[in-house]
Amino acid sequence: MMATKSELTQQLGVVAGFDDPRVELEQYRTPPELAAHLVHTADLQGDIDGKTVLDLGCGTGMLALAAALRGPKAVVGVDLDLEPLSTAQQNERRIATKTAVSWIRGDATRLPLSTSESTTVLMNPPFGAQKGNKHADRAFLEETATVADVSYSIHNTGSADFVESFAADNGGTVTHAFAAEFDLSRTFPFHTEDSKVLDVELFRIEWE
Ligand SMILES: C[S@@+](CC[C@H](N)C(=O)[O-])C[C@H]1O[C@@H](n2cnc3c(N)ncnc32)[C@H](O)[C@@H]1O
Repeated sequence: MMATKSELTQQLGVVAGFDDPRVELEQYRTPPELAAHLVHTADLQGDIDGKTVLDLGCGTGMLALAAALRGPKAVVGVDLDLEPLSTAQQNERRIATKTAVSWIRGDATRLPLSTSESTTVLMNPPFGAQKGNKHADRAFLEETATVADVSYSIHNTGSADFVESFAADNGGTVTHAFAAEFDLSRTFPFHTEDSKVLDVELFRIEWE
């Protein structure tokens, strides 16, 4: 039987984040509650069980590991940076997932792999908010449009128009959207008291 969302949250509690986060890569860990919510929702939609799950910009593995705790056929995590990938491997050992995860160092916007399997993309991509590099998430969506049957992505708040029109122009349909917020405190030294809560929006997109 499927573990409950709160059981999943609890299991993900041991997933370590970034030791030495790189600001330019927007390295922060998705909180366990949000990852559990996203993956539980995806599982209820039939988007995890028996699917190939791809976590683009997987960091220390939170979303990939959440999926691997359910019943996917295969899970692949891709990140540019080697250091969080080694933390991801340690995290995988710590939570003993049913499905082994393949951790790949590579650019998620030019994927070093292709799949003919039914593929679900999960991602919390860089937003480009820091350096006025608006919509750094666009390149992640572009790659998603080419590989995914379904995707779940986290974007900064106010992204709905951008995501919906991107999807419409690239063979996608946004079927679900919901808002969430999470506490970013202590991730980067420049975070001050009033910038610690990050408002985000999550989207489920079906791709042709
Ligand atoms: C906001 S963090 C999310 C990490 C993880 N998915 C999670 O949910 O905890 C964004 C991640 O994207 C990675 N990243 C940024 N640009 C990338 C690229 N072009 N290709 C692959 N990974 C990238 C960063 O190294 C970072 O780990």
